[in-house]
Amino acid sequence: MDNVLPQQAEQALQYLHARIPLELLSPVVGIICGSGLGGLAESVLPEPRAEIPYTNIPHFPQSTVQGHAGKLLFGLFECNRAPVVLMVGRVHYYEGHSMQSVTFPIRVMKRLGVGTLLITNAAGGLRSEYSVGDLVILNDHINLAGLAGLHPLRGPNAESYGTRFPALSDAYDLDLRRRAHQLWKSIDRGPVSTRRLHEGIYAFVGGPSYETRAECRMLRGLGADVVGMSTVPEIIVARHCNMRVLALSLVTNNAVLDPGPRGDETSIQDSRGQDLKRAIEKGKANHEEVLEAGQKAAADVQHLVSLLVRDILNT
Ligand code: 6GU
Repeated sequence: MDNVLPQQAEQALQYLHARIPLELLSPVVGIICGSGLGGLAESVLPEPRAEIPYTNIPHFPQSTVQGHAGKLLFGLFECNRAPVVLMVGRVHYYEGHSMQSVTFPIRVMKRLGVGTLLITNAAGGLRSEYSVGDLVILNDHINLAGLAGLHPLRGPNAESYGTRFPALSDAYDLDLRRRAHQLWKSIDRGPVSTRRLHEGIYAFVGGPSYETRAECRMLRGLGADVVGMSTVPEIIVARHCNMRVLALSLVTNNAVLDPGPRGDETSIQDSRGQDLKRAIEKGKANHEEVLEAGQKAAADVQHLVSLLVRDILNT
């Protein structure tokens, strides 16, 4: 059984080649914009640009979120006019796509010539010292689904991309992480900003429900610092074909690790003296707060990613 991915990527590539001006056609950096972080597109010059909706590209997965169809944006980076490609909007496994389909755009980026991939996402914070709005550079992951066999590289290996058994012990490029920390220090965020940059481990879960309290405690117990529903499949496929990867999570909410009030407590009063309703509602994740945190942090994330792209392309 052959892997059909190389042929499919070739077809997608041919489609793109026919529609993108030559000067934009060889991006060296690819950027995936996470929830609420589509503003990264503003770092790309208005002219020349090519925007190709995922719906038109052969074999590209289609987003099921209305009004967020997603597009590939080809353009020149504002500060140095270097060609870049952005995924504005991504598809998630929970939308019903296969792992192969979710990661297909990474294969196409590789064929376009992308050597470095910058990924942003929204994630739940599992550490009490993380605040909403903080950023976390990923230095490792826990792929729960993957360990159990649900893996983007399952099936015949696409030898033209990489090896059957890729190592992931060095998946999160140290040089890029060091640069990111350094650049962060150089950003003036004003006297009132308390936003911090951490480094930590991302637990990938299938979603689309947020985790229960017990699941959050389990993930924390396993050593995860943030939890989310994206990024890890893309990183695995990017590493399979030897791209350098930097992934950045925006903490959009604090996951609840507290067990919550019990039903078998004798008094109707919460024994910890908290208002029961508040104890139940506290920390309950919702999509709106995730998007709101994204909007507030967008400028800082954009700034950091811009500096990184410039730094990468200058060396
Ligand atoms: Cl708390 N969990 C997951 N799985 N994804 C998230 C999140 C939480 N917050 C933002 N994205």
